[in-house]
Amino acid sequence: MEKTFIMIKPDGVQRGLVGEIIGRFERKGFTLVALKQLAVSRELAEKHYDVHRDKPFFGGLVEFIISSPVVAMVWQGEGAIASARKLIGATNPLSAEPGTIRGDYGITIGRNIIHGSDAPETAQSEIALWFGEGEVSEWEPTLKEWLY
Ligand code: TYD
Repeated sequence: MEKTFIMIKPDGVQRGLVGEIIGRFERKGFTLVALKQLAVSRELAEKHYDVHRDKPFFGGLVEFIISSPVVAMVWQGEGAIASARKLIGATNPLSAEPGTIRGDYGITIGRNIIHGSDAPETAQSEIALWFGEGEVSEWEPTLKEWLY
């Protein structure tokens, strides 16, 4: 089943949006298979955004990501990568549609609340970068066994 890497950035955590964001993914129907809050090292932030290393915003972006803890997650489900990008909305929150996470809660591109993998290859490499093998738990809902 397809998996995607999602990170709630320091602004999302500090603004108390963790529960709201997790709720949106849960209500969409995806399955949470990994979750942790962590203080990000400079090395990890630079590796994660390596593709942007030569961009003018790279330095500020890395400083922002390491400035306070983030919440890293892996969500699983059919079409999870593209669907998560839809739930998240456009990179610039002012262009993001209302109803998306960035469209509802963001204003500035440098403080856009959340990251989501953009393709199968990046999802795979980001999950491997942020989580050890034992930290991702595949599971199938067994709801019927818990309802009486
Ligand atoms: P990008 O990978 O283009 O966007 P997305 O997060 O939607 O996949 O850019 C990575 C992050 O870099 C983006 O979330 C916010 C930051 N950024 C800037 O601060 N300024 C910019 O001009 C761009 C394009 C991105």
